Amino acid sequence: MTVPQHVAIIMDGNGRWAKERGMARVQGHNAGMKALREIVKHSDVLGVKYLTVYAFSTENWKRPEDEVSGIFKLLVRYVKSEIRELDENNVRVRILGDWSVIPEDSRKAVQTALARTEDNTGLVFSIALNYGGRAEILRAARAAAEKVLSGEIGVGDIDESIFSEGLYTYGMPDPDVIIRTGGEYRLSNFLTWQSAYSELVVTPVYWPDFTPEEYDRALEEFSSRDRRFGGIK
Ligand code: FPP
Repeated sequence: MTVPQHVAIIMDGNGRWAKERGMARVQGHNAGMKALREIVKHSDVLGVKYLTVYAFSTENWKRPEDEVSGIFKLLVRYVKSEIRELDENNVRVRILGDWSVIPEDSRKAVQTALARTEDNTGLVFSIALNYGGRAEILRAARAAAEKVLSGEIGVGDIDESIFSEGLYTYGMPDPDVIIRTGGEYRLSNFLTWQSAYSELVVTPVYWPDFTPEEYDRALEEFSSRDRRFGGIK
């Protein structure tokens, strides 16, 4: 099996998982957090270098307030319970998205996680929080425009490399594969720029049921794909 360098995951299906069990949606996210724990560990075992997960989109603010606050509380719990082990395993945590506007206790948890792991050199674990692909592209466009205005570069100098410097993923390779659980075939504003040549693997399994074995299966499917990047073999 070819292990991808960068795996990105859309963790969908928490709500449906909970509904099928007569539980509140937040309980689905809680089960989702537990699934995430195992997937981070398994990524490390497999030798994946970058793992990026979609935890909260710029559109998720539209959800009921208790669900939104529930997700952020889970983030705090996740960081508190996992940070030590992540650090011991040399994992570096990154956040993609504008996390300046998230609830204060979550912001503090994020700050702690970033500071504690910033010098780690192992798996780069990125959590997309208040992330939107289009918002990210606009941010990069503004950053490039600023460089032109300051005279640092000319308009014609804006290329993919310079543009990428304004993306949250700066310095990271594009995802080789984007896995979506919960059975839906769309990207939902996730890694819009970076997904140009990513393989998409969709599984009907709801995120809380996405075990390391399911993960292996998804990567087997990725491994069987013929990636040509627009060329021919
Ligand atoms: C999508 O499922 C999932 C989310 C919007 C939240 C993802 C959050 C977690 C996995 C747990 C939190 C962990 C951290 C580290 C923040 P959905 O609610 O859209 O499911 P549905 O499509 O079945 O309704």
